Amino acid sequence: MLNEINQAKKVLLGNRKKGYTLPTNNNLYPAQWNWDSGFIALGYSHFNLKYAFDEINTLLEGQWKDGMVPHILFHDLNTNYYPNHSVWNCGNKIKSSGITQPPVLAIILKRILDKNIIKDKEKIKSIIKKVKKYHQWLMRYRDPKNSGLVSILHPWESGYDNSPLWDEPLKSIKIEKNLKYKRGDNKVVNPDFRPLDIDYDRYVTIKNHLRKNKYNPKKLYETSMFNVVDVGFNSIFLKANKDLLYLLKKFNLEHNEIEKYVLKSENKIEKLYDKKTKRFVNYDLKNKKKITVPSITNYFILFADLKNKLINKEIIQTLKKHNTKEKFFFSSIKPNYTSYEEKRYWRGPVWINCNWIIYQGLKDKDKKFAQMVRSKTIDLVKKNGFYEYFNTKTGKAYGAKNFSWTASLFLDLILEKKFN
Ligand code: GLC
Repeated sequence: MLNEINQAKKVLLGNRKKGYTLPTNNNLYPAQWNWDSGFIALGYSHFNLKYAFDEINTLLEGQWKDGMVPHILFHDLNTNYYPNHSVWNCGNKIKSSGITQPPVLAIILKRILDKNIIKDKEKIKSIIKKVKKYHQWLMRYRDPKNSGLVSILHPWESGYDNSPLWDEPLKSIKIEKNLKYKRGDNKVVNPDFRPLDIDYDRYVTIKNHLRKNKYNPKKLYETSMFNVVDVGFNSIFLKANKDLLYLLKKFNLEHNEIEKYVLKSENKIEKLYDKKTKRFVNYDLKNKKKITVPSITNYFILFADLKNKLINKEIIQTLKKHNTKEKFFFSSIKPNYTSYEEKRYWRGPVWINCNWIIYQGLKDKDKKFAQMVRSKTIDLVKKNGFYEYFNTKTGKAYGAKNFSWTASLFLDLILEKKFN
C-alpha cells in the first residue's frame, strides 16, 4: 500500500504549478478547474496542509466580484486549450470561464477542518466568507424564485459534461451558423473517448450565447438556451450548504440565510423523487420535461444526507441494481440503457469522484455496502493506475493519465482515519 500511497502523492506533486494543480500532466486540461481543485485540496491535506490551502486560496482568487467561482481559471495564457481565455473573454483578477461547476468547496473545507487544527482562525474565516458569497450567488442567480433548487445553464457546469442526461435538452438547441473553432481535446486523447463534434457544436453555441449576454446572471436564467435542475448538482449544493452552515455557526458568522435555504432545499429536492421507479430524476426547466436517464450522479442524493429515511433506503436498493453483471462499479450510466457507451467519457465509464461521493453518502446508511464500494474503488485504481476513467466491464483505463482527483481521492479513501 505504501508504494501506491507514494505514487498518488507523486501524481499530485507532479501536476502542481504555482499555488494550484492541473487535473493531469498532459495537455488535455492545462488550467485550474473548480471541483478538481476541491478534490485535490483534500488529497494534499493528507500530507501537505499548506498545499491544500494554497489550492483553495488560488481558486478563490479567481472569484468574480458578484461571488461566482468559475469552472476554469486560466493561469497560463499560452496553451492550445479550447475554449481558452480569449474565447471566454472574462474573469476578474484571473482570466476565467464564464460558468461554474459543482460547488464542493465547503464540503472539502469542513472535512479538512474536522481533521486538522488550524491556528490562524482569521484566515479560515475569510475563506468561509468567500465560500458563503459563492453560495449566495448560486441562490440568487440560479434560483431567483427562491424555490430551493438551483439551475445549471451549461452541461459543463455539471462536471459530467458529456452525459446522456443532456442529450434531450441539447437536441432543441439550434447550432449557430458558421461556427468556427478548433477543438484541442480530441488531438490529445483518442477521439473515441471524447464528445462527438455535434455535441461540441452545441456546447460552443450555448457558450457563445452566454458571452453575447456578457455573462449577466440576472438575464441568463431566463434566456439561456439550456436550463436544467440537475439532481447531482443540487445534492452537492445541499450537502455543501449543510457543511457551510456548520462552519458559519462554528466561527460565529451570520448563518440565517443559509439555514433557511437548507430547509427549503431539503423539502424541495424530494419533488425530484419518482416513487414509482424509486429513482431521482432531473427537470429540464427550459423544455418543461423530466429527464429520466439512469445516471450515477442521481445517487449523489445520498451525499446530501436527506432526513427522509424511507427515500434513502429505497434509493440504496435501486443503486444496488445499477451494476449487476459488471465487475467494476459504478458505471456513470446504467449499462443496459440505450445511450450507454463503454469508452466515451461520462457515457458509461467509472469515475473515481462519483464513487467517492457515493461512498461518503453510504457510510452511515449502509456500512457493508459502503465498505464494498470503498475497497472496490481502491482496487480498481491499484490495478489500473491513476487514470481519468475506467471501463466498467474490464477495468481498462481511459482518458488522461496521472489524473489528479483519482490520486487525491484514492489517498483519501485509504488514509481516512477511521472507517465508521
Ligand atoms: C472534464 C470533466 C470535468 C473536469 C475537467 C477537468 O471536462 O468533464 O468534470 O472538471 O475535465 O478535469
